[in-house]
Amino acid sequence: MPAGKTAKNNVTKKAVAKTPLHGKTDWFTHDRFGMFIHWGLYALPARHEWIKQKERITDEDYRKYFEHFDPDLYDPKQWARMARETGMKYFVITTKHHEGFCLWDTKYTDYKITNTPCGKDLLKPMVKAFRDEGLKVGFYHSLIDWHHPEFPVDKFHPMYEDKAYRKTGAGRDVRKYARYLHNQVRELLSGFGKIDYIFFDFSYPGSDGKGRDDWNSKDLIKLCRRLQPDILINDRLDMLDVPGGWDLCTPEQFMVRRPYMIDGKEVPWETCQTFSGSWGYHREESTWKSVKQLLYLLIDTVSKNGNLLLNVGPTARGTFDERAEARMTGVGEWMKYHSRSIYGCGAAPADMRCPEDCRLTYNPKTRRLYVHVLNWPIKHLHLDGFAGRLKYAQMLNDASEVKIYETHLPDSCWGSEEDKSKKTAILELPTAKPDTAVVVIELFMK
Ligand code: GLC
Repeated sequence: MPAGKTAKNNVTKKAVAKTPLHGKTDWFTHDRFGMFIHWGLYALPARHEWIKQKERITDEDYRKYFEHFDPDLYDPKQWARMARETGMKYFVITTKHHEGFCLWDTKYTDYKITNTPCGKDLLKPMVKAFRDEGLKVGFYHSLIDWHHPEFPVDKFHPMYEDKAYRKTGAGRDVRKYARYLHNQVRELLSGFGKIDYIFFDFSYPGSDGKGRDDWNSKDLIKLCRRLQPDILINDRLDMLDVPGGWDLCTPEQFMVRRPYMIDGKEVPWETCQTFSGSWGYHREESTWKSVKQLLYLLIDTVSKNGNLLLNVGPTARGTFDERAEARMTGVGEWMKYHSRSIYGCGAAPADMRCPEDCRLTYNPKTRRLYVHVLNWPIKHLHLDGFAGRLKYAQMLNDASEVKIYETHLPDSCWGSEEDKSKKTAILELPTAKPDTAVVVIELFMK
């Protein structure tokens, strides 16, 4: 032990000197599309990951899920392959959700995977499998913990309404819990190789809430950056006003209307979204989004400089259910031919006007503009303001030429006086929409 301790201290001292203030966002803003995975004991009740809280389930009653967690069909290589084939470039796995259950063989609690009938660490092989498929690695880690004996019985706690329980829990010390939290984060960020992203969830400062002082967010961030200097940290540690307190914003289940701004400055952002409404596996949810809706979400997000983190909640057998698979296959089929309009792309420059019923993405390196046609027009797609600027146009799915016309149109066709005097560019499209969920036209700029 002493020898190990000395070595570790040396490493720490060295690292402190160059602990950066921010993580590296270049891969993140390039990759644009990731897979979120919510997997824990809540996969067994199969009716939302907040089930313990929603149904006010006691620790004792919740125990049955711990005693029956045995994902016998778990094949992380298959998950990773599917993620890659869907076009996802990184993944974020719930190491621990609010229920407090840990997916890895942590030394800080017994409430972990190795003590369930499953009996083995699920996180290690998952990280390896996804890395082997070329995906970047992210950990979601819950700040909230409804199992830890020192986590206060606050307004979100499952036992909050039980007055007697609250009374016995009155002496709980959040500082002790914070030590546990920091210890586990240290374990996660030192035992699994390079971790590219950590997604903490979540703070709710204010009356009976939790925030930066409870988690000791400042030191937690320092710890993360010291152990993993490039790591990206999300914005849920209640540190938005602190330099270095976050690297990206994470609007949840929300379509933003324009590139995300904080204090008047654009920032990297990622929206996390479910296939239906629940993050954990939900057997009976019926609000599943279609492939077309999911593509729209992805395209719209990238057109506003954002990332999409699309969630799957695996079953307690260890599989992605067929509804998730069908959607991933559909998105993957589109991505196979269209990922060029997603990776490395972002919002189009302001002087490139978006045509009607379309979304634009732009790759500044290749200087190609991608027109995503959401509603197939009859023959003509008007590109106002593009006359004289286009070199070539093609369908992205099959590289077939799209003819460009540049012309003055009769007065009756024009919207504004200003436009009247100028030439416009028109793309001539086939009458029948090509057989792909969202057609993309690739424009080579002069
Ligand atoms: C929320 C929820 C949670 C989910 C998460 C994803 O904060 O509490 O269940 O894991 O968002 O962003």
